[in-house]
Amino acid sequence: MDQDNFYTMLKNREIMVGIAGGIAAYKTAELVRSLTKKGANVHVVMTKNAMEFVTPLTFQTISGNPVIYNMFELLAGSKIGHISLSDIADQMVIAPATANVIGKVANGIADDFLTTMIMATVVPILFVPSMNTKMWESKIVQDNINKLRDAGYEFMEPASGDLACGWEGKGRMPTVEDILEKMEDIFTEKDLVNERILITAGPTTEFIDPVRCITNRSSGKMGYAIAKIARRRGADVVLVTGRTALPPPRIDVPTIMVTTAAEMREAVMEHFTRATVVIKAAAVADYRCKSQNCQKIKKRHGEEGITLDLSRNPDILAELGENKGKRIVVGFAAESNDLIEHATEKLQKKNLDMIVANDITQSGIGFASDENEVTLIDSTGRTRHVPRLPKDEVASIILDAVKRVIKKKRKVEDDWY
Ligand code: PMT
Repeated sequence: MDQDNFYTMLKNREIMVGIAGGIAAYKTAELVRSLTKKGANVHVVMTKNAMEFVTPLTFQTISGNPVIYNMFELLAGSKIGHISLSDIADQMVIAPATANVIGKVANGIADDFLTTMIMATVVPILFVPSMNTKMWESKIVQDNINKLRDAGYEFMEPASGDLACGWEGKGRMPTVEDILEKMEDIFTEKDLVNERILITAGPTTEFIDPVRCITNRSSGKMGYAIAKIARRRGADVVLVTGRTALPPPRIDVPTIMVTTAAEMREAVMEHFTRATVVIKAAAVADYRCKSQNCQKIKKRHGEEGITLDLSRNPDILAELGENKGKRIVVGFAAESNDLIEHATEKLQKKNLDMIVANDITQSGIGFASDENEVTLIDSTGRTRHVPRLPKDEVASIILDAVKRVIKKKRKVEDDWY
């Protein structure tokens, strides 16, 4: 995905990247590059040990700012380096964070530029540990991490896999995407913290025979974006998704993969009871084959064509609308003509609180694109047009509208009781 065209909280932020002496330091170059592509102004601070693995020149070139590693460096005039950088910082990330740096900070040691700067920084500081599995599991490292967590520092869990030291296990630096998502998360207001949001995404697939199927062009991007942003905003999120090529939106979003509409219905119903909000961005097949052929259908000589005998799939959203109680139920409508009229009809028929109307005739929006342009319609008939924007941003606007619906619905209920 083009990161320049990406909705982000990192734009125009002053980000301090601390690099300690671990083999994963080379991966930090990609992190710095991604941060600058997202519009952040990045300042890199390296320990002496880090410079055994990577050079300051690399990071100076990528960030466009001088790299600091000298404890007694002055930034400009008589400004003391670690203090003036701390003063302008919006967030600091230490990647890789070694057992040594974690241990030093946990025990109040500030003997180089990086550790001194950490002590002088009051904005959020994210540690991204990377080390040998045995070191990670050691009681001393874990005690130090717990101490720092209690003091308000943020930590990511290392990923598992092959380690540079030959071991296999937990200790790898998380992916750049996961680090960026955590950084975005830190900047995001947790305004959906009391909501349990069930989201569906992607296409459903109905088999004709073992080879062929009926499906649609949904890539899952819209639903995955809503799941990611809702979790970022503090909601407890469950995602039920048809088969897509996308990686799960976040490690802390339980993601249930389904194939058919019947499987989607079953998974949705299982999680519906505890949800406060349901958002159905999935494109569900309305029909399935009456009987599925166990063997591949063969072409017969002289045959003009074949007829598929289809039966209706359950309308999951209609069933949710019927049984919603106090829940907020939001649907999507993908339309090729009379957008508002057809979407409003679905909103009313399925007893929804809001519908997101998608005009699928325009190129570059809707199915499989990175952007979308939609109209939100609520149950009072009020509409809001959302211009063409990255799907993450559209997701955030949809969630703002959901928040307004929640507020209104709960207020009405409170007044009634
Ligand atoms: O996944 P992307 O590539 O990012 O594309 C996003 C999208 C275009 C798929 C998405 O934004 C969208 O519009 N999803 C709804 C598509 C659709 O199936 O619309 P519909 O008008 O057929 O269905 C209306 C609503 O009823 C939808 O919320 C759908 O999930 C639900 N439905 C439909 C049929 C059915 N049997 N059960 C359902 O629950």
